Amino acid sequence: MQAFGVDIGGTGIKGAPVGLEAGRLALSRYEVATPHPGKPEDVADAVRGVVDHFRWRGPVGVAFPGVVVHGITQSAANMHPGWIGRDAASLMAEHLGRPVVVMNDADAAGIAEMAHGAGRRWAEAAPRPESGPTIVLTLGTGIGSAVFVDGVLMPNTELGHLELDGHDAETQASARARKAEGLGWAVWGRRLERYLAHLEMLFCPGLFVLGGGISREADRFLPLLRSIRTPVVPAELHNDAGIVGAAMAAPRSQDRP
Ligand code: BGC
Repeated sequence: MQAFGVDIGGTGIKGAPVGLEAGRLALSRYEVATPHPGKPEDVADAVRGVVDHFRWRGPVGVAFPGVVVHGITQSAANMHPGWIGRDAASLMAEHLGRPVVVMNDADAAGIAEMAHGAGRRWAEAAPRPESGPTIVLTLGTGIGSAVFVDGVLMPNTELGHLELDGHDAETQASARARKAEGLGWAVWGRRLERYLAHLEMLFCPGLFVLGGGISREADRFLPLLRSIRTPVVPAELHNDAGIVGAAMAAPRSQDRP
């Protein structure tokens, strides 16, 4: 059984068919640049381009970098403000000619990591029934969060926008902040450590999973997080997690391709 996942990001829109049993991409992903200034119609056209690239006719799920409630996009920190209050699920359905689920990108990445990646591996290694929530963070253009309590997602948590030292946390500790400010791993790692310590104080988590493309370089920064008591593990699906999670959420009533 396959479904198609699309992950809309600030710089790229990527997608691929996903094998749902394995929770892995069934074909190499295809990516196009996110249109600027990223108005909803233009982005929906680009999403269609990604889906059509594979001549895909089956179920589609879309991950969006903002709050999404019942298919309505309610925030757009790194996207065009025209998304705010927009019925993104209907917009995508019109462009793709079938029902589409739209969800927050970090929530999508989180459900993929919990079902097929680092969250699952952690739970299998040693069941810890009394531990606190698992917090999956995606460190990319922004910081996305997915919080799981006893494995159940609490959607749209937006922990990347917590205040950290007087700033929006994602402007300090995202992968983009590291690049934009030309920070070395040690300096950026200290910021990440401050951010995780703040989350630790608020949530007493049982596990942090750190995702986004930067998770491929986890060995450069995980050793820097010395003061964090909560176990911290890198995501396993890296930048594919949003695609896999979106596909997992795709409406299944469609014909298979
Ligand atoms: C958005 C979140 C999103 C995260 C990662 C943040 O700026 O507010 O909704 O999950 O970026 O894309």
